[in-house]
Amino acid sequence: MSATQHSPTNANPRRILITSALPYANGQIHLGHMLEAIQTDIWTRFQRARGHEVYYVCADDAHGTPIMLHAEKRGITPEQLIAEVKEAHQADYQGFGISHDHFSSTHSDKNRELVEQIYLKLDENQHIARRSIEQFYDTEKGMFLPDRFIKGTCPKCKAEDQYGDSCEKCGSTYNPTDLIDPRSVLSGSTPEMRHSEHFFFKLGDFTDLLKPWIGSEALQEEVRNKLGEWFEDGLRDWDISRDAPYFGFPIPGQPDKFFYVWLDAPVGYMAAFKELCEAKGLDFDQWWQADANTELYHFIGKDIIYFHALFWPAMLHGSGWRMPNAVFAHGFVTVNGAKMSKSRGTFIQASTYLEHLQPDYLRYYFAAKLGNGLSDIDLSMDDFMQRVNSDLIGKLVNIASRTASFVNKRFDSTLASALPDAELYQRFVDASAGIAKDFEERKYSQAIRQIMALADEANRYVDDNKPWLMIKEEGREQEVHGVCTQALNLFRVLMTWLSPVIPFTAAKAGDFLQVSLNDWNAIQAPLLGHQITKFKALMTRIESKTLDTLIEASKPAEAAAEAKQSDAAEISSDNENEGESSLDLAPEIKIDDFTKIDMRVARIVTAEQVEGAEKLLRLVLDLGGEQRQVFAGIKKSYDPSQLEGRLTIMLANLKPRKMRFGLSEGMVLAAGGNAGGPYLLSPDSGAQPGMRIS
Ligand code: 2FM
Ligand code: ZN
Repeated sequence: MSATQHSPTNANPRRILITSALPYANGQIHLGHMLEAIQTDIWTRFQRARGHEVYYVCADDAHGTPIMLHAEKRGITPEQLIAEVKEAHQADYQGFGISHDHFSSTHSDKNRELVEQIYLKLDENQHIARRSIEQFYDTEKGMFLPDRFIKGTCPKCKAEDQYGDSCEKCGSTYNPTDLIDPRSVLSGSTPEMRHSEHFFFKLGDFTDLLKPWIGSEALQEEVRNKLGEWFEDGLRDWDISRDAPYFGFPIPGQPDKFFYVWLDAPVGYMAAFKELCEAKGLDFDQWWQADANTELYHFIGKDIIYFHALFWPAMLHGSGWRMPNAVFAHGFVTVNGAKMSKSRGTFIQASTYLEHLQPDYLRYYFAAKLGNGLSDIDLSMDDFMQRVNSDLIGKLVNIASRTASFVNKRFDSTLASALPDAELYQRFVDASAGIAKDFEERKYSQAIRQIMALADEANRYVDDNKPWLMIKEEGREQEVHGVCTQALNLFRVLMTWLSPVIPFTAAKAGDFLQVSLNDWNAIQAPLLGHQITKFKALMTRIESKTLDTLIEASKPAEAAAEAKQSDAAEISSDNENEGESSLDLAPEIKIDDFTKIDMRVARIVTAEQVEGAEKLLRLVLDLGGEQRQVFAGIKKSYDPSQLEGRLTIMLANLKPRKMRFGLSEGMVLAAGGNAGGPYLLSPDSGAQPGMRIS
């Protein structure tokens, strides 16, 4: 084994199985998927570098109506489509250095076996109900229609051309049968109601199991709160069957009935791992049996929490398997402060990104912004360029690039035999535990902040010693050797910490230093008297024109032409702003909607920390005679003692909400977003508690 391939060891290794959500085999991987893959991969690589036994599996989510119809439209079989897409997905993941130990597909024999086994066990344990339901049926197409394949007029606001589950204009949700003038998206015909027997998973049977689970550390605080609300409405049966034609697994013994894609998708985690076990000779049961002492973690987006935090653990438990140790949900990606948009060229596919930019840039940027909560992550192009250029090139790589050449040229590429400042090196090593804790807790942005502060320190050390001047003075050669050895050792420590984040750059740096940068323990001892190789540039700067090209390349052909026209219009009207479209406003409302909202001026009487809450403060508000308690997510921005006595605005007729910490009887208004905040709103002087906002 060469020096750069050494595997880390740990006297007490944990055994950890990690998954990312399975991407649909129906479209390309985009930067939204990449956020999750990068978040998961950093954690995986970090755990490996700590010497644990770690497996990271994923797969394509290959079933469902959209995939069936997509294949039909292209005149190929679903099997052909999913094989083609899988190849593209794997290439994208590989391009970004996502280190899956195995990437499978839910359309596999292993998955079919496990799904059948789980279903039969649930049925045997009386957790499956059967009953007839009524659903729209497209007689021309010969199939039942999922909600998204029915359109019509919104029953509330009468907007036309709305989907069968919710209205994009007024935001109301309803059943497809409520639509006025419904029609099939597939054939345009008016669908008719038909009965069919469906199979249901009785989630309510698991109420006693799920209550403590959703209150436990297995879920993030924000997730716990959200799920608590859903719980209040009771856990309803979940429809797990679909009628033919459907691309999925047939339900055993039930002709023309298939498992709903969301039933077999999470089982795909198990199936992918089972395939890996067979290839590697691992014992699958040790990882999945009910009393397994191995660890299991799922990384997911915040839109699929319900499936992973309720259905999935219940399915596992009900069929005799283990439950996950934790589910880690993250927010969405926005680009330049708005939802990714095809016409703006911000709906960026992974493959398009890779044609223009290095993967480590994005890996670093996402890491620098990721915390362990559900907040959305904004990829602001200017900030992206500035941050990567300044941190990675200006700080990190700079340490090596301004010291390596002396060692290469003057000292035969060999490091000195002692460090001139061993105490400084030790301070770096001592920071390791805190940085590891942040990575472990998925507080990557915090870890990056610490690492970059130390990179600043390493640069200051070089600046203070100025080897480029020292070398000109006679008799100071040995000092130069020491200073450069010191700097390169600090660089090695920083690079080791960052290797889960920027693995491509770390691999190059490892080749240069002739040492593995994938082992956190190895940094305990500095590299002394050690042979390195010739330094080559590790990274180049991001140029703004490359980002412009990326955006252009991400626009569909017709949208690019439209955008050019509107750019011209904007310039001629002297409009410096980006235009209203970039605000991504909520759907338009009428004045009647606004008058339903009762906002009042309130005085904050007391403000205090809430034990166990990451973001909340408990406020007591005076509305001019009446007092209310409100839990507000503003802890990040305010010291409670500063708030007492000040005026703010509250939404006073919001239905009181039971929270884990007590009743919240309204909401205070605050501004915020990716650019900062929350910032509490205040009225001008003269306003009195109780006054209504109109
Ligand atoms: O939301 C999605 O993209 C799904 N394909 C995720 C499935 S995750 C798991 F349950 F399989
Ligand atoms: Zn509507």
